[in-house]
Amino acid sequence: MFRTITVGKSRNAIPVIGAYSEDIGRRKNPGVPARLFDAFKEGLARPGFKAEVGDVAFVENRLILIGLGTSDDFSTAQARRVGARLLRTLDRCQVNAIQVQKRSDRSDAYTRDIARAFSEGMGLANWQLQGFDGKATKRTPDKGRLSIDATRPAARTAFREGLRLADAANEARRIAETPPNVCNPTWMAGESRKLARRNGLTCRVIGYRKAAEMGMGGIANVGVGSNHKPCLIQMSYTPKKKSKAAKDAHLVLVGKTITYDTGGYSLKISNGMRGMKYDMCGGAAVFGAMQAIAAAKLPIKVTALLPTAENMVSEAAYRPDDVITLYNGVTVEVTNTDAEGRLVLGDALAYACKRLKPTAMVDLATLTGGVVVALGNFSAGMWCNDDAFRSRMDTASEQADERVWRLPLWQEHRDFMRSRVADILNSNPKRLAHPIQGVAFLSFFVDENIPWAHVDIAGMSDLEGNDITGSGATGFGVRMLYELAAEMC
Ligand code: BES
Ligand code: ZN
Ligand code: ZN
Repeated sequence: MFRTITVGKSRNAIPVIGAYSEDIGRRKNPGVPARLFDAFKEGLARPGFKAEVGDVAFVENRLILIGLGTSDDFSTAQARRVGARLLRTLDRCQVNAIQVQKRSDRSDAYTRDIARAFSEGMGLANWQLQGFDGKATKRTPDKGRLSIDATRPAARTAFREGLRLADAANEARRIAETPPNVCNPTWMAGESRKLARRNGLTCRVIGYRKAAEMGMGGIANVGVGSNHKPCLIQMSYTPKKKSKAAKDAHLVLVGKTITYDTGGYSLKISNGMRGMKYDMCGGAAVFGAMQAIAAAKLPIKVTALLPTAENMVSEAAYRPDDVITLYNGVTVEVTNTDAEGRLVLGDALAYACKRLKPTAMVDLATLTGGVVVALGNFSAGMWCNDDAFRSRMDTASEQADERVWRLPLWQEHRDFMRSRVADILNSNPKRLAHPIQGVAFLSFFVDENIPWAHVDIAGMSDLEGNDITGSGATGFGVRMLYELAAEMC
């Protein structure tokens, strides 16, 4: 891996050029710079090189060919994969500087989107968790700096933007991968303060006692069983200048930040607990998005809320059958202490509606195993109460290549959450429509007139053997939230 990736000229840069599968067997030069055409033909003739996405041919020190697949199918999603694959090749072959050659006559806007995705892929592939190697690991020293350049100025700017977004997603991955004996609510508050300082955000932490005093019964009860007490972290970004469109806008991002989910007294069984350090990935995505938004100086006001707690078993822990009261006065019969995410989110959403006057609100959460059954790791689940805002979410999701898919929420779903002894249940013992039960519950904590989207990322937050991010935390949601904020400017 490289210590850093920078954009700019470098003396010994090796040219890199894309090859489409239809270039194979072609006689005529398909628009490759004349001085590189011989090397290009040599690369195409390499045994095994089919110019499929991810194929790489290294022609001595003269040229690197990267396969792009068929030109019809080439997209930003493919460009991200190509970037990731190239990064791994450069790492292996000890190349420290490249210059990406202009190949198509497509518009600057197209070049920009492709170039951004390509460098995002490079940035994402270049990341690994640091700080947990012990004496038994001998890691190869990092390769220093990788310098990337492009023949088109539009691409150069796009490279910088892509690397910046990758950095933000990698920051979310770092937080997510940090083991739960380090990453607890107090640690999250410390990291948030540091993020705020680095990026000119304000940061306020509402501690356990204060939260309980303010009536945040969700956060207080979910986290009370742990020695590391829960809190609500609030970070705000206020731009120097707001865009005309975002003059009165206030986007609020809420992320489920359960630093470990044992299930509590409704304890998770056997191996069902492993991986629950990722139960803070909603919060990690919001964290990364705040970095991206601030670094890009987007002209819109954005506030992040991270309700954070560790769901543990102890004498003090909350239990099934408890009735608790959340911030907006809604009472909840706890049927299952493992449905804890919605309890901390309920407080945060209600707090946002009452105190922050959002003009739009999104929450991201690893909320249910049910959404993984329904949609797998092919997309996140999305619910939205406002047509115009939903279309913004869809655009943001497409721009980021982070898929979300709409699921329904009807009055009947809300009625299904009614309790005999309190206002609502945190989970209906009948295991029907689990991911929808989650959002039905949350809807009791959001004012109807506020455009709101809930995104259940349980299937997307960590993956095994992903083309771009490898195994572990993906940072899913960081780029989508950034695009959403940009879209609203
Ligand atoms: N954190 C889990 C959801 C989850 C499960 C995320 C698997 C990622 C992978 C959540 O707190 C939970 O335990 N949900 C329960 C809800 C149930 C008790 C109503 C679930 O999905 O089974
Ligand atoms: Zn749970
Ligand atoms: Zn959980």
